[in-house]
Amino acid sequence: MAKSKKSWEKRLDSKPDPVTVDFVESLSFDKRLYKYDIVGSIAHAQMLANQKLITNSEFKKMKTALLEIAEQIEKGKFKFDKELEDIHMAVEAALIKKIGDVGKKLHTGRSRNDQVATDIRLWVRDQIEVIQAKITLSQKAFVKLASKHTEDIMPAYTHLQRAQPCTIASYLLSFVEQLERDFIRLGNCSKLLNVSPLGSGAITGSTLPIDPKQTAAILGFPAVSSNSIDAVSDRDFAAEFIFDCSLIAAHLSQLAEDWIIYSTAEFGFIKIADSFCTSSSMMPQKRNPDLLELVRGKTGTVYGSLMAMLTILKAQPTGYNRDLQEDKVHIFSASDTINASLDVVSAIVSNTKFNTKKIAAGLDIGYLDATSLAEYLVGKGTAFRQAHGIVGSIVAACEKQNKKLADIKLSEFKKYSKSFDKDVYKSLSAENVVRKFNTPGAPGPKQAKKQIAHWKKLLAKR
Ligand code: ARG
Repeated sequence: MAKSKKSWEKRLDSKPDPVTVDFVESLSFDKRLYKYDIVGSIAHAQMLANQKLITNSEFKKMKTALLEIAEQIEKGKFKFDKELEDIHMAVEAALIKKIGDVGKKLHTGRSRNDQVATDIRLWVRDQIEVIQAKITLSQKAFVKLASKHTEDIMPAYTHLQRAQPCTIASYLLSFVEQLERDFIRLGNCSKLLNVSPLGSGAITGSTLPIDPKQTAAILGFPAVSSNSIDAVSDRDFAAEFIFDCSLIAAHLSQLAEDWIIYSTAEFGFIKIADSFCTSSSMMPQKRNPDLLELVRGKTGTVYGSLMAMLTILKAQPTGYNRDLQEDKVHIFSASDTINASLDVVSAIVSNTKFNTKKIAAGLDIGYLDATSLAEYLVGKGTAFRQAHGIVGSIVAACEKQNKKLADIKLSEFKKYSKSFDKDVYKSLSAENVVRKFNTPGAPGPKQAKKQIAHWKKLLAKR
């Protein structure tokens, strides 16, 4: 029987069955970890040399060859052989092929278990920075659009029913807040994952005098894991990272849903530039917001990854189990999806115009000033609950007569409450109401301008 290509050929009698090769391999997807794997191996080899487990000249040979391998992979000149299972074995086999017996010393005091745990932490740590940068770009796009609309008013909705007026700027800035929490959340995830598992070996470290502190320092980990049994199987950061991606997806899907609705003929609030719309193969008149629909749809893909990751982690016995190999499928998928969705959202936000005329023309619909009218009565000494009832009756009457609140004459107002006076009209109309918003964070022009100044300052530093 032909022997396996791997060092366990001495232990297993026969070559793996093709079914085995195909089923256990992760090379097809974990090859994208190659840079991290090689950087991790160089750090490990450096430590082995420092600890006199290999000589300095052996280390130099290894380093040179590993860098050559990285270059080969980078240039697409590396032949990936799935029989080698994963990127770790593929790189090691290439190293041995290049430098012979010296290459066989690289795996001293190391297992693929601590190796992969290290690689994936490094990968996620970098990806978090990439996603954070993309979050910042989309926040900047929102702020830029918001600064054009600090005086323009639109309806704010609850239950998708017209509620109260708000500035368009404040509406847009609400997404900046969501994204800011996403940014911070990813930063927290990064802090928590920033611990080096390298040195934990397969599960119990090593009897050799390796020094995990050195590899941690070389790889920029501020700490070394304090329990090797936990370290080889801990993928909490993977679940957390995918959760953070899921919440970003939820936020982007909210924007997508809003803007799909806002771009309908019925709403006509926005126009997305043609270059970010698609059309129909049959209906020649169509301008479809397919990109936003895909952003919304891809939320399902990311949630799927979260569910998968959590389920992979469920009820594994303590220690490394091959189940964990599946983590990468979902980490990569969630990350790729969020990267793409953030790019699309930034582009769309930068290429969308608010149809302020159409929005303004409809501001009299829906009694956006009803709450303000009730608060006017509170200002005149009426209890809020009573004022709420009075205005409710006025709105009901107006609706029957197809009138807006500002159409009501003072004499008529007085029939509902003696507290009404001629200053009542200052509390009516969407324009008047937004200017009366006093609470911090309310969607009035002065608050919007203040928030824009805050965001501009903060985001410029990133
Ligand atoms: N490809 C594996 C993974 O991604 C590497 C670790 C394999 N370890 C093992 N003991 N079989 O998890």
